[in-house]
Amino acid sequence: RALRGRPLDLAGHRVVVSAGGTREAIDPVRYIGNRSSGLQGYALARTAVARGAEVTLVAANVTLPDPAGAAVVRVGSAAELREAVLAAADDADVVVMAAAVADFRPAERHDAKIKKTDGEPAPIHLAKNPDILAELGSRRKERGGDSPRVLVGFAAETHDVLANGQAKLARKGCDLLVVNEVGESLAFGTPDNAATILVAGGEPVEVPRGPKDDIADAVWDAVAPRLR
Ligand code: CTP
Ligand code: CA
Repeated sequence: RALRGRPLDLAGHRVVVSAGGTREAIDPVRYIGNRSSGLQGYALARTAVARGAEVTLVAANVTLPDPAGAAVVRVGSAAELREAVLAAADDADVVVMAAAVADFRPAERHDAKIKKTDGEPAPIHLAKNPDILAELGSRRKERGGDSPRVLVGFAAETHDVLANGQAKLARKGCDLLVVNEVGESLAFGTPDNAATILVAGGEPVEVPRGPKDDIADAVWDAVAPRLR
């Protein structure tokens, strides 16, 4: 679908979208990463621009070209993503966390490349990363409830999709949670997706399998009425 002809229902609103997947350094040449391509986050940024929003896109290790009209901040690790998102969220009306943020990082980063001639490999100990979405949710609560006005999370689940999603929505304090079922060539690195948008205090919205732009538009359709 062409980007023209969309409603300008996000005009005058600042939107922050995170996209891609973080990389957590083991040493200067190796990292722990994930399979997120950034396609869904980029579709969200592109369609938000088309609907009139002022868009900041925080992109973690995405190889796609910058979407026209969005301000792009490129980051690598979860710590960098956190800093960029929290800074941009300060005066945002909507924050959408579409990035796959690593839950854990190597507890220590080796300054020099680990060499195989060093002998048997040492185990990599992991430390927990901060949960950025939950932090945005609790920060909003502390500040009295409306900054950002709309907070959107994503979740990829392999089983008990709706039950896990509902629990996650509540735990993170967000308004909408877009749940993808992973598997059968859906979600990671594919042009198509299918999703259920869980709504705090409302009925879920089913989005049929289709291009990631369609999922993005369904998200903005759910966000826009909450900005009025
Ligand atoms: N998220 C985040 N910071 C993290 C981990 C996740 O902001 N450290 C965000 C993601 O961007 C996504 C949402 O939280 O919008 C849900 O991520 P998900 O990985 O599905 O949830 P987790 O709480 O990490 O639970 P789990 O991976 O154990 O299912
Ligand atoms: Ca996770």
